[in-house]
Amino acid sequence: MERNILTGDRPTGKLHIGHYVGSLKLRKKLQDEGAYDNFYVMIADVQALTDNWDNPEKIRQNIIEVALDYLSIGLDPNKITFFIQSQVKGLFELTCYYLDVVTLARLHRNPTVKSELKMRNFEESIPMGFLTYPVSQAADITGFDATIVPAGEDQEPMIEQTREIVRSINNLYGETLYEPKTMLPENDVCKRLPGTDGNAKMSKSLGNCIYLSDDSETVRKKVMSMYTDPDHIRIEDPGKIEGNTVFTYLDAFSEDSDFEKYLPEYKNLDELKAAYQHGGVGDVKIKKFLYQILEEELAPIRERRHYYEERIPEVFDILRKGTEEANKKCNEVVKRLEENMKINYFEDKELINAQTMKYTPNGD
Ligand code: TRP
Repeated sequence: MERNILTGDRPTGKLHIGHYVGSLKLRKKLQDEGAYDNFYVMIADVQALTDNWDNPEKIRQNIIEVALDYLSIGLDPNKITFFIQSQVKGLFELTCYYLDVVTLARLHRNPTVKSELKMRNFEESIPMGFLTYPVSQAADITGFDATIVPAGEDQEPMIEQTREIVRSINNLYGETLYEPKTMLPENDVCKRLPGTDGNAKMSKSLGNCIYLSDDSETVRKKVMSMYTDPDHIRIEDPGKIEGNTVFTYLDAFSEDSDFEKYLPEYKNLDELKAAYQHGGVGDVKIKKFLYQILEEELAPIRERRHYYEERIPEVFDILRKGTEEANKKCNEVVKRLEENMKINYFEDKELINAQTMKYTPNGD
């Protein structure tokens, strides 16, 4: 069995530091460790269209943004196959066969879909493409024999549903597909980084994101206006850590070595937290510290992005080549499924012989 990794993102906007700590960083680590046979990263335009069908231009414009973000964090096209979902036609075939083993009731039970339906106010008019996107996502994963899916916590219901589909298909047609597992970041705060305004979710529509591609000054401004503890007014006042977004980000980004470099009065984050809770540490100080840490992480990312921004045709070439490669692999899986379902009529000599015999048993 191959050890294949697959993950992807909807191209609806630039990627932000929530994506970074939640999944991108882990992808980079997995790439650098190299313990895999194939590593696929997909730009999920088909899935993005399930709630942007009225605005394909938005998706079209954001393919390159997401690709640039991938390359900017150091994902390497020599080690990872990048591809565009809509251009791998085998995925549509798999989706169609999987739909036969999934019920409407089961789709409605998917907790991520449930909350998304509520958010989008579809009410009685739920588009079928949207409701069934977990099935298409099962195709994305199984279409590459992927068993490892580094993705955010909110993706777990999709992976669970994928495992169910795999079991149904294997029960019906024999061992054909592999069950995947989600891989989450170890650090709990990284699983869902809040927005700069303290909202539980960092999201474009809420305008509370720090993007990987933000310039240094933009990052500084966003950090300096971050939500902290509204009751921490004077420096001497004791401050709260819980719900204080600056500390949540420090939990996600800071290391002991950052204290030595930028804030030597404190040995580590625990000491800084204790001092803040006690009183005497100003918000400006912790924000400046966070900004320096973020800058250290983001500056090389920005630089690599600029490199690729000057080479857009090359980036499209990377996607084109990756998509060709992805098609090869996915077609193998489609072929395997069709063989096991015995719907590969034209390659099935036995079928032709048996049916010939049925009508001309004496061979005349
Ligand atoms: N659902 C993912 C998101 O919203 C994108 C995605 C599509 C994906 N297919 C996938 C993620 C397969 C992991 C595996 O960002």
